[in-house]
This record gives sequence, C-alpha cells and structure tokens, in this order.
Amino acid sequence: MSNGKANAAKKAVELVRDGAVIGIGSGTTVEIFLRELGRRIENEGLTVYGVPSSYQSHILATNNGIKVVDLIQYPELDICIDGADQVDERFNCIKGGGGALTREKIVAAASKEVVIIVDSSKIVDRLNMPVPIEVLPFAYGFVERRLSAMGRPVLREGSGKLGPVVTDNGNFIIDCDFGDIDKPEELEREIDRIPGVVECGIFCSELIDGVIAGYEDGARFLK
Ligand code: A5P
Repeated sequence: MSNGKANAAKKAVELVRDGAVIGIGSGTTVEIFLRELGRRIENEGLTVYGVPSSYQSHILATNNGIKVVDLIQYPELDICIDGADQVDERFNCIKGGGGALTREKIVAAASKEVVIIVDSSKIVDRLNMPVPIEVLPFAYGFVERRLSAMGRPVLREGSGKLGPVVTDNGNFIIDCDFGDIDKPEELEREIDRIPGVVECGIFCSELIDGVIAGYEDGARFLK
C-alpha cells in the first residue's frame, strides 16, 4: 500500500465534524479513511453517521464506530469522501475499479461537498483508462454491441474467470476502453443513454469539489 493513499486518507479525516452525515465511497483508500476516522471517533467521542456505497464500506463503517444510515433517513449528506482510479486536472474522474460506481455516484450526488482522495500517481492530464459500466444482465449482449461501436468493451470476470463479476446491485460490469477521453461529459451522457446501462464510472468535474492528492511525505488539498 502506497504512503500516498494513506496520507490522502488521513488528511480527509480532518474534514469530518462531530454530528456529520457522510457519504462513504469504496476501495482501499476509503478503507484507510474509515480506520482513521474510527480512531478519531474513539479518541474524541465524536458521533458520525454515514451512508456506505458498498457492502465493503458498510462492514468497515460499522466496525469503525460510524452509525450506518440510509438515504431515506438522510436524503442530503454533508460530505462525501471517496477514492478514484484516475483524476484529470479539472477533477473529472474514472471510478468503479471495485465495481461500486453506481452507489458511489448516488452518494456523491446526494452530498453538499464531494472530496476525492487519491495517491498522486492517479492524477493525469487526460483520462485514458477503460471506463467501468454497470449493466443489467438482461441487456448485456445488446449493450456490449452498442459499446463496440464506440470503443473496446470487455466483460469483467472474477480472478478465476468463472463468469462475470456481479455487483452489489446484482448487475454485470463492462470495462470499455475509449482511448483518450477528450470530452468526459459528452461520453458520460452517450453511455448513459444506452438502454440497460445502469450507470457509468465517469464522474464529471461538476460533481467534485476537491481532490486530496497524497504523496510519500504528505498530502495536498487541490480545490
Ligand atoms: C470502487 O468502485 C472505486 O470507485 C474506487 O473508489 C476506486 O477504484 C479507487 O480504489 P482504491 O482506493 O482501492 O485505489
């Protein structure tokens, strides 16, 4: 695990105030964030409520003293903390390496402030990695055909290649390579227009308020 991830996660913990209702992303950087937040909760006697975006973060949040709530109780959240797979200089992101992109986008959209925590090596001039796309299993063949006209889609399989990875929502993930992504907003709209696509892993800059970039020896809050 890089120090960059840990340093970004530790800095994000400072943003959580007593009584806050937070959106909780998923992934290894968020895992460090939750452990550090758990330490603060224990040492300072804070009360923190959270809406997790995956079973992974639900279990971690519970084990670290965060009171898990949902969007029915709290349709608006104070702040969302999440990782990303790639971030460009305008704060457009690609997310979904862990397959939790749909709920991650929902908790981000429900939050007044969204802060992305990444190792600085994930910051690039232009997004260029395959975009994770969550798809209804019923629509998989059709969606793959449509995506083939736009890029190179690959169905995500488990490490033993025993079939498709199934998300927390019971769907498949297609990772689609579009090469360099010049216009993330347009591509996001185009993908989301395909019937059967639940959500795609392009998170446009309008959704993101800040990025904490972690380095070997510290972290910087980019706003
Ligand atoms: C989970 O679906 C993803 O969006 C993660 O936030 C992203 O893959 C970053 O993960 P790491 O923090 O593990 O690098």
